Amino acid sequence: MSNVINILAIESSCDETSAAVVSNGRVLSNHIATQKVHERYGGVVPELASRAHMQNIVPVVDAALKDAHLAKGDITAVAFTQSPGLLGSLLVGACFAKGFAQALQVPLIAVHHMQAHVLAHFIEQQPQFPFLCLTVSGGHTQIVLCRSHLDMEVLGETIDDAAGEAFDKVAKMLGLPYPGGPLVDKYAALGDPLRFKFPLSEMKDYQFSFSGLKTSVLYFMQAQKKTDPDFVANNLNDICASVQHTIIRMLMNKLTKAAKDLNIKHIGIAGGVSANSGLRKAITDAGIQHGWHTYIPRFEYCTDNAAMIGITGYYKYLQGTFTDLSIAPSPRATW
Ligand code: KG4
Ligand code: ZN
Repeated sequence: MSNVINILAIESSCDETSAAVVSNGRVLSNHIATQKVHERYGGVVPELASRAHMQNIVPVVDAALKDAHLAKGDITAVAFTQSPGLLGSLLVGACFAKGFAQALQVPLIAVHHMQAHVLAHFIEQQPQFPFLCLTVSGGHTQIVLCRSHLDMEVLGETIDDAAGEAFDKVAKMLGLPYPGGPLVDKYAALGDPLRFKFPLSEMKDYQFSFSGLKTSVLYFMQAQKKTDPDFVANNLNDICASVQHTIIRMLMNKLTKAAKDLNIKHIGIAGGVSANSGLRKAITDAGIQHGWHTYIPRFEYCTDNAAMIGITGYYKYLQGTFTDLSIAPSPRATW
């Protein structure tokens, strides 16, 4: 028998259907089908997401296997996102993974999506432990202390909106389509980040809050529109730059505090918002200032992808952490 561990990984927690093959910790393929159907609704519609996952899952897995030049019989274990996420979406991936594992008589591995975002760093780099990760996505904002690959602790998180949600909600107010984060990033690059001032929330310890920012941007725009109905169109770049600057300051203030308090020098960002060019620059600059080793995933490993599920599955496989077919997906679950 060969010693190669080929993990087939499935990610379906939100609006990307993704499948990857990870062989001995190396990504052989990573296919992502992005669901365009949500754009016109200004956000993810859960029922439409589940249906799109059902249409996408077989072709996406097929493409991942073909790209990896492997047959079904070469797969050693199947890993899938078990939590957190939209229940209907998770169910599609979970049912597929269970069926596949049962048919092939190979082990099944349940993966926590937020743990996988952190471990996306280990696809191409090897951060040293203790490693501190700011995970910022559409549903979460967390500072995570990693003592080893699978020993992680959430030190603090948002008490309301996630950072990605703040980007998306402000974008929606500005009339931009979903998901607005990448567009805010694009316009921000052309604007003045100090032109408009928005309040920084003052939360205790390593907690975050972004709902106040959303409200202050809303009131600010309402007031400005009274004197200039075209205020948004005339100032789009500066509004985006100022909002992005505020979100990044809030994130970096807490990350820097945690790094100092715990005296950790290996620091990374992960999750969809880590694709943001302003945040990528901010952590790089902070690294130079504070003498950190900084880690930023490649773009395709920032937003939702199955490669990160596969790498997490690989570490769980090495640890012998498997699950049986009775496991159910969960919209919310702690690690
Ligand atoms: O990790 P992810 O793909 O899905 C979740 O698990 O939520 O993150 C998606 C989030 C969305 O809110 C999206 O607007 C945001 O990441 N995002 C960005 C950028 N690219 C994606 N936010 C700001 N700047 C970007 N370049
Ligand atoms: Zn995610």
